[in-house]
Amino acid sequence: MRRRSLFLSAACLALPVAAQADEVDFDPVDLAAAEERAAAIVAGMSDEQKTILTYGLGMFPDPNRTTQLPEGALYGAGFIAGIADLGIPAMPETDGPVGVSYIGGARGDFATPFPSTVALGATFNPEIAYLGGEAMGAQARALGFSIMLAGGANLTREPRNGRTFEYVSEDPLLTGVLVGGQVAGIQSNNIISTVKHFALNGQETGRAFVDVLIDDASARESDLLAFQLAIELGQPGSIMCAYNLVNSEKACGSHYLLTQVLKEDWDYPGFVMSDWGAVDSVDFAWAGLDQQSGAQIDPDIFLDDTLLAEAGDDEARLARIDDMNKRVLTAMIATGLLEDQEQAAPINFATASEIALEQARQSIVLLKNDNSILPLSGSASHIAVIGGRADFGVPSGGGSSQVHGEGGAALTVRHDPSPFGMLVSEQYHGPSPLTAIEQRAGDTKVNFRDGRYVTDAVIQARQADVVIVFANQWMTEGFDVPDLSLPGGQDALISAVAAANPNTIVVLQTGGPVDMPWLDDVAGVVQAWYGGEGGAQAIAEVLFGDVNPSGHLPLTFPRNVTQLPRPEIPGAQTIEPGFLARSDETISIDYTIEGSDVGYRWFAANGESPLFPFGYGQSYTQFSYDGFALHRSDIEGLGAVFQITNSGERSGADVAQIYLTAVNGEVRRRLVGFARLDLEAGETETVRLYFDPRLLAEWNGQTWEMAGGRYDFALSADAQSDLLTASVDLENLILDQKGQKQQ
Ligand code: BGC
Repeated sequence: MRRRSLFLSAACLALPVAAQADEVDFDPVDLAAAEERAAAIVAGMSDEQKTILTYGLGMFPDPNRTTQLPEGALYGAGFIAGIADLGIPAMPETDGPVGVSYIGGARGDFATPFPSTVALGATFNPEIAYLGGEAMGAQARALGFSIMLAGGANLTREPRNGRTFEYVSEDPLLTGVLVGGQVAGIQSNNIISTVKHFALNGQETGRAFVDVLIDDASARESDLLAFQLAIELGQPGSIMCAYNLVNSEKACGSHYLLTQVLKEDWDYPGFVMSDWGAVDSVDFAWAGLDQQSGAQIDPDIFLDDTLLAEAGDDEARLARIDDMNKRVLTAMIATGLLEDQEQAAPINFATASEIALEQARQSIVLLKNDNSILPLSGSASHIAVIGGRADFGVPSGGGSSQVHGEGGAALTVRHDPSPFGMLVSEQYHGPSPLTAIEQRAGDTKVNFRDGRYVTDAVIQARQADVVIVFANQWMTEGFDVPDLSLPGGQDALISAVAAANPNTIVVLQTGGPVDMPWLDDVAGVVQAWYGGEGGAQAIAEVLFGDVNPSGHLPLTFPRNVTQLPRPEIPGAQTIEPGFLARSDETISIDYTIEGSDVGYRWFAANGESPLFPFGYGQSYTQFSYDGFALHRSDIEGLGAVFQITNSGERSGADVAQIYLTAVNGEVRRRLVGFARLDLEAGETETVRLYFDPRLLAEWNGQTWEMAGGRYDFALSADAQSDLLTASVDLENLILDQKGQKQQ
């Protein structure tokens, strides 16, 4: 199986030279040959054959099992029929991006539940993203799938978005590099991976009819840049267009997004598939859509032989139909799917479990640690564990990405009694954090209370030396969270427990940021996201110090929603939420408010300080930096060099972050490089990395341009704590789409 060149190219962006060496098993895809072969196959196709790869059907579980599955189909997200006469296999599709999805249990199988994607973002580690992708892709393939609908490259513009847990971060570089890694890993199994949801799919409220208003430059410097980097690094066979409208055009019918930006400006050779239920007419194909997905959910199947009827003898439309086929075939050839139709090896659960556990460990962010209450020392003889269903398992995000682990969910809470409600049920993956803590605590007494009664929790807290409160915010596709509170009275529970025992540690298991009205009253806060099947063990290992916490926030935690560009979610007052909500009326979202200043950039531009900044994360050891200097190479361009030392007493990893902070004296905060490094106590490493010039540039309406003048940079602990600074004078530069200097 082929191994992609991810780490070779990622190195140019952000990875330290030291991290590249062992990763390059370079087997580049000969794209020109793939396209040529695809074109030759299309040239030999009959008219009927040209409208088979252009649409797929949804393969959803049918409670009555009356639906006859087409030959070769599986229950999953969807299915594209093959063309046996041409040796083209059918393509069953499964959701990602946190493992092979469950689809209501219809297949009767199971797969490894990985941590949420935002947790992956907190690792700042493209290599572990690649390994996770490789492992989940292997499971997808072993279960019979050819396309995995992962990864999510939308920026987390709206922290209340119900799908925040499915996206990596609020930053284009971090998102692009990690999604690129995951996609390359998935595709190393000779299957296709799909980067989604293109583009600017920022909220679930009215997701099918919200109209995102944004100018071209702001889009290209933010969300589109995240997609562009992910596509360059991961080379996904397909892109899924989004439900929402962009500047009053449906994303899946947007000539601007699909043809102008993606295919012309970025030269993307693969195919665009629609999100399920996002297509209104055959015209979407003329705008650039190549494949209609889950087509029976749309008002009609538009991209079947309707295409030929509508094309008539219009040469441009006939050429477009050929191009649609060529793009699907190019993806199949370039990923190896067309060639490699052998039976897959049985699933290797052990390796996937190790990677899922390692992702969970690296994702945990230590937010607060007064008086070094953590790691827990042997001196505590009585620990109270309270709340968060910690006696069952760790929460997971709901919706199409839901994964079912071996033995099924440890706990399922239904919020919607309809048959459809299973898709948006709150599911917990075992084992439980309580068991993991008990095992690790040895002789220490551990008492659990579920936290339903505050009085009872307070009694337990008074008796214990240390209290660990688990607090959850469950998120699901289809529904935004209305605010950033911890639901169900958990804030009051934490406050009461903290008042009873100052040695209170809160373990947050959330999809994204939450308010912390009790922050000053607790001794410790650990952000554990949705940890997947390794979540419980990883939490116990961090609490007891077997693992040094090394996660860093991939998105800003605001003090409250009034700090956000939109204190209220557009449409929240009027729209009935839901997966399938449709309307002929649109609701506008004005993304020109923040433009490309998403997340920490919005806070920097407004001089606001959040509760916890992007990039923040404490450690049980200390790191110091030295020798920060900028350097230029003819080949790699501008970069930085510095030394990092683990100056503490224990081994651990740190995430060094370099930001552009100003151009010609004006604030312009952008993450331009990062490196995650494991260092033994006392160890020093020299890091050298290069900046993608697009991160320093602005979109001038035609291309990327760097103004001439002074550029200030900082080596920082997070987006607002600069440690060392350096500056350089640069000449005015015009760059091409890929950030290369134009001659
Ligand atoms: C989601 C996609 C998913 C598709 C297929 C849609 O509801 O938005 O992310 O891939 O369903 O399950």
